[in-house]
Amino acid sequence: MNYATLFLFVLAASLLRAQQSIPEVEELLSRMTIEEKIGQLNLLTPGGGAVTGAVVSSDVEAKIKAGQVGGLFGLAGPDRIRTAQEYAINETRLGIPLFIGSDVIHGYKTTFPIPLGLSSSWDMALIERTAQIAATEATADGINWNFSPMVDIARDPRWGRIAEGAGEDPYLGSAVARAMVRGYQGDDLGADSTMLATVKHLALYGAAEGGRDYATVDMSRLKMYNQYLPPYHAAVEAGVASAMTSFNDVEGVPASGNKWLLTDLLRGQWGFQGFVVSDYTSINEMTNHGLGDLQAVSALALTAGMDMDMVGEGFLTTLPESLEEGKVTEEQITTACRRILEAKHKLGLFDDPYRYLDTLRPARDILTDAHRAVARRAAASAAVLLKNDSGTLPLSRDARIALVGPLADSQNNMLGTWAPTGELSEAITIQAGFDEVVPEVTYTYAVGANITDDTTLANNTNVFGPRVVIDERNPDTLLEEALAAARQADVVVAVVGEASEFSGEAGSRTELTIPESQKKLIRALVATGKPVVLVLMSGRPLVITEEMDLPLSILQVWHPGVEAGNGVVDVLYGNYNPAGHLTASWPRSVGQIPVYHSMKRSGRPAPNKGAPFQKFQSNYLDVPNTPLLPFGYGLSYTTFTYTNPQLGSEQIRMGDSVQVSIEVTNTGQLAGEEVVQLYLRDVVRSVTPPDKTLKGFTKVMLAPGESRRVTITLAPDDLKFYNAALDFAAEPGTFEVFIGENAEDEQNMLSFELLP
Ligand code: BGC
Repeated sequence: MNYATLFLFVLAASLLRAQQSIPEVEELLSRMTIEEKIGQLNLLTPGGGAVTGAVVSSDVEAKIKAGQVGGLFGLAGPDRIRTAQEYAINETRLGIPLFIGSDVIHGYKTTFPIPLGLSSSWDMALIERTAQIAATEATADGINWNFSPMVDIARDPRWGRIAEGAGEDPYLGSAVARAMVRGYQGDDLGADSTMLATVKHLALYGAAEGGRDYATVDMSRLKMYNQYLPPYHAAVEAGVASAMTSFNDVEGVPASGNKWLLTDLLRGQWGFQGFVVSDYTSINEMTNHGLGDLQAVSALALTAGMDMDMVGEGFLTTLPESLEEGKVTEEQITTACRRILEAKHKLGLFDDPYRYLDTLRPARDILTDAHRAVARRAAASAAVLLKNDSGTLPLSRDARIALVGPLADSQNNMLGTWAPTGELSEAITIQAGFDEVVPEVTYTYAVGANITDDTTLANNTNVFGPRVVIDERNPDTLLEEALAAARQADVVVAVVGEASEFSGEAGSRTELTIPESQKKLIRALVATGKPVVLVLMSGRPLVITEEMDLPLSILQVWHPGVEAGNGVVDVLYGNYNPAGHLTASWPRSVGQIPVYHSMKRSGRPAPNKGAPFQKFQSNYLDVPNTPLLPFGYGLSYTTFTYTNPQLGSEQIRMGDSVQVSIEVTNTGQLAGEEVVQLYLRDVVRSVTPPDKTLKGFTKVMLAPGESRRVTITLAPDDLKFYNAALDFAAEPGTFEVFIGENAEDEQNMLSFELLP
């Protein structure tokens, strides 16, 4: 670039800045002291939400009155929030309103299935609607800033937070990210029922080593750009108002102090206009990471592009000194403060700081029948039918049921992890769902087993209250009771799996099987010879190799949310035909992790499916390479066939789109939805490609016997990837397209050429 172009570039950039600056905010900034600006960068919690770190804020009221707080989280309700807001408005010199943040991860009080479950619906309109409802309810309770969506790609089901995201795939993850940002923020952040969304956790948090929470991450830029960054980028493109940094390292510097990440990439390359908030004490934790004392790490964070400090108070307590010592500049503090004030302005808080505090709204807008109906539908849509032995499902209303298992009537485990705003007492258990949805059905209930008999695991799980309750009775007595019920029944429905807090933050596990206490129950139930249906709950992919081999049926329902029982019983009895498909591969054994559909090919590929072990090829001695259940997998009560795939064109030019279509027929007896998936293989390119990767999907409803030609368009960007120079570009050559039911379905392959 020569000087003249550089000059024009700088001029254009400053004009753009000037155009975007908000006069009220600039005027306010001009009146603020440096202490007042630093105060805006401080986010505290008075307690009341989920406390996820060692530090809890103290003297919050005094700090607000001293102008030392820019926002609060973990409090709710118009009255309580009004009091806090009044401290800020009436008792500080400038009366700047507070942000009121919260973790509304999968619904506010109307709790939807955990996000991994919701993503299994592949239904973006539904996901957007759940986010909209969450925003309506949260804003009714005074909240104006949400710490969601969590879009971290997760390919290690040992990591408990896989529950909070959309699974393993960047294409699907990006679609979900966009839907959630739209749902929370709507078109107008100034509206009463929308709130600021936060894309988190920037970045790569899901790639923590060994699946241990808060562990380190090390990844090439190629892998970041192609696999892990797209969903954050998609949220930014959708206009997300804030971004939260992650706890982990990104190329040797934790995200909270990483200038490349927070400034060069996020703002420079992606054009992010919002503000960046740390995670809970993640700035302070850089001291543990080995980057210096609180003053040093706080200066590092600000300089890197961090705007707001969650709970740690490093900004509040050390920035004045760092400014004096020249370690940070006034300009940097002003910039961070400006971004925060601009977001408050967008929310309309300067016009009316009490705008979300209408005391009539909670009763009117929260947990309404209409919202609960969406939650019920979402619980059903999230369910994935993994196996339907002898067509046991859907159940007949005439069959006598033995309803057993430790999760059949456990209100405390229905909402799932990260539902701090939900009400456990509102949750409909599976047993309650039987009473509500099929009152005519005769059933006998018995708990049958503890979730686990391991008291250490139980105690570690029960931090937020009793999720695992170990029955006073002997496990053999529990088992006998369930077997007696089974013997009297026509069909056994066993609700088994993980407690809700087996997953989630700091909820990592090394064993991913169903706990042994419940496996014993399952084996004994099968031995009765009665048809057995497992209703399986979990916050992650499990290792269910043994259960897949047993003669039983499995309906995976995750942790289904407040309407759990109604939604799940709808599926069991065919009021809703299951159409969920997995969004993360389910391994055969923990030793296979990571296992995901878009793995790269080896130079010595594993033998084809079903072929025997081959020495000196990339395979295991003991299990195949493939997952037990592939990405995209899910059955229905009906069957679909795919025929006559067609391409719009077999040769296209750079910048062209290509249409791929296929005839999908419902060949069964029931109406049902199918998730048609398109996978792409870039056969030859300058950087080794994934074997194949998801590049399109659509969900269609078909009546029995109905056929429809489904078309998916591959846009020019779908053929692109980040090359060695990190340019996003397509390369000429052959592309193979697979269109079918899951990532391993290779029946319908087409290919086209991308011409230079
Ligand atoms: C979590 C975040 C959450 C924050 C505030 C942290 O421990 O990592 O996802 O938003 O706490 O509750």
